[in-house]
Parts: sequence; C-alpha cells; structure tokens
Amino acid sequence: MKKVGFVGWRGMVGSVLMDRMREENDFANIDPVFFTTSQHGKPGPIVSSDPGKPVAALQDAYSIEALAAMDIIISCQGGDYTHKVIEPLRESGWNGYWVDAASSLRMKNDSVIVLDPVNRPVIDQAIDSGVKNFIGGNCTVSLMLMAIGGLFREGLVDWVSAMTYQAASGAGARNMRELIAQMGAIRDNVAEELADPASAILGIDRKTSDLLRSSDLPQSEFGVPLAGSLIPYIDRQLENGQSREEWKAQAETNKILGLDGQALVPVDGVCVRIGAMRCHSQALTIKLNKDVPMSDVESIVASANDWVSLIPNDREVTMEKLTPAAVTGSLDIPVGRIRKLNMGSEYLSAFTVGDQLLWGAAEPLRRMLAILL
Ligand code: HSE
Repeated sequence: MKKVGFVGWRGMVGSVLMDRMREENDFANIDPVFFTTSQHGKPGPIVSSDPGKPVAALQDAYSIEALAAMDIIISCQGGDYTHKVIEPLRESGWNGYWVDAASSLRMKNDSVIVLDPVNRPVIDQAIDSGVKNFIGGNCTVSLMLMAIGGLFREGLVDWVSAMTYQAASGAGARNMRELIAQMGAIRDNVAEELADPASAILGIDRKTSDLLRSSDLPQSEFGVPLAGSLIPYIDRQLENGQSREEWKAQAETNKILGLDGQALVPVDGVCVRIGAMRCHSQALTIKLNKDVPMSDVESIVASANDWVSLIPNDREVTMEKLTPAAVTGSLDIPVGRIRKLNMGSEYLSAFTVGDQLLWGAAEPLRRMLAILL
C-alpha cells in the first residue's frame, strides 16, 4: 500500500477532506501518516470503523526526512507551509507526488491543476510525462468549470464573464463565524422593535444602518459588514484593476483545460463576497462561437459530468433548487437560468451554485489521490 502523508488535515478544508475520505472508505486503500506542525508524538486520528487499521503517532510536518518517506503527500496546510517545505523536500531527492490545496504551486510549469471530471486527459498525460505536483484549483474556477465544462469540451466558448457571489468560507473559518456573529448582532440590536408588529420599519432600518456603520458590529476578520451588506472585492488588489480572485478566472481556466500555449479563452468578471456560508454562486454570461440551439446547449451542459444538473428556467424550481441553502454540504452542481440574452443568439446566461469546500477544495484532491494509487 502507498504511504500517504496528510498535512493540515485538521483545518477547514482538511477536515472536509477527511470526512469525505471516511465516507468513501478511501483510507482502506492507503497507509495514512498524519503530520502536524505543533503536536508531534500525539496520537493520530481515527480514520476508519475498522479497529484493525492502526494509525501511527503524529509526525513532524517540518521533518524533511519524515516527509520524504511518503509516496504521496496531501497538504491542506496553506501556501506558507508549501513554500517552506517543497524546495528542501525536492532537493533531498524526494520524487513522490505532492497534492496541494494551496495556490502557491498552481501556476508553475511543473504543476497541473486537478479537476478530473473536467480535465482527466490533462492529468493522465501529466502523470505519463512525469509531473509530480498536482494542485487543487481556485474554488470559483473549479465550480464554474464543473458547471459549464461541457461547453468548453465541445469547443463552443468564445469567452465567459463570471459575476460571483462568494461565500464567507472562502475567506476562512473565522470569517464564517464572524458572518453569523454579525447576523446575530444585527438581530439583537432591534429585538424589541421586531417583537412589536406595530413598530415602524424605518426606525428598525435606521437602527440597523447605524449599527452596520458603527464599530460595535463584530468585523475584525472582514474589516467591514458582510451581513446586511456585501464586499465587492476578494483577495489582493492587482495593478491592472483586477482583484487577484478575478485574475485567477482566466489564468486557471485555461491551465485546467490545458490551453496554455494556444489561443486563450478570455474569462473575466467581478468577484463579490456575500453572506452565504459555504456555497459560491456565479452569474455567467457566455459568448458562444456559434448559434447553438437551446436544446443542444442544455444537453451538453447536463451531460458533462455526474454532478452537474440542469435546473429548468422556471421561477419555483429555481427558488427551490438553485440556491446556496439548497446546495450547501452536497456535491451537486446545479446550473439554471440558462437562456439566450438580448445581445444575440450566441450570448447565453447561466447561474450556478456549488459548495466551495467540496468541489471547490477537498473533492478534487481526494479524487486525485485515487487516480495516483
Ligand atoms: N479565494 C476564494 C474565496 C476561496 O476567497 O472565496 C479559495 O479558492
């Protein structure tokens, strides 16, 4: 059995990965070794209901020697950790597979971004040619490609504009807590007025606005209110006017699809943080390179992979099924609101929702592990 090292398995993405691996009984096929940056020697986690599967004590995540004993390492520890260990590890002669959720190695020439329902041929070719670094993509990009990968596969896409509605989880676990704390503070601030049906709504609104603009609202993580508001900027500011999150859309889409070196498909838009917990949503404008009948568009989208589903462009079904509340915690990738736009018969709209901790982070990694075994 392959020795597989896990680093960062207690964080948010790591915990989702562990849960999925337990659910799918993935640990039965590997010899897992758990690493820690702070608690070496402590007992490892329980990974299966089989008591006969012992897990060794936690090992030092900074020990190059211990890491080098692994055939495969999966890191959800974050980019700083990757930066610290990958070079000395490779320099030590380690030739194993490095599977990483962090973005540090994503755009390197010797790395492939993994999203196998979309780019399995790119992954297979990379393995054959000796690539050793397999990196999870940006959550928004992965979710967009899970949704409309069929149109790319058929070579129908001229360009895509993605306007995003991104959940708090993309910013981190503490940000999820802060979103709820903000919601609670907003509610508590007007609890008395809410209890009185005769109280004036404009009074409630004024008190709420005052709280949103005051330092009494918990905002140490986001820096500003997210509940009752939104944040139209995600990640760092770049010199070209894009945010780094917006920059990733085109760069990663083309890399995932293996289009580097060919004519790039332009992908751009505005990335916005909203008060959802862990589902990113995206409103897409897709410019097709020809007029494709709607029935063909729908069947191409719906048949692209086992998780995408077409939501009819109907109000009731859309409200029920095409929302973060409906999708959260599941691997489903619903795509709806598909129609031709007024701009012309080659212009399509679509709206999609996906769990950014599952297909956006953990799931492509656990599937990559299975491919490597
Ligand atoms: N950068 C994403 C976000 C999450 O902030 O929502 C990670 O891909």
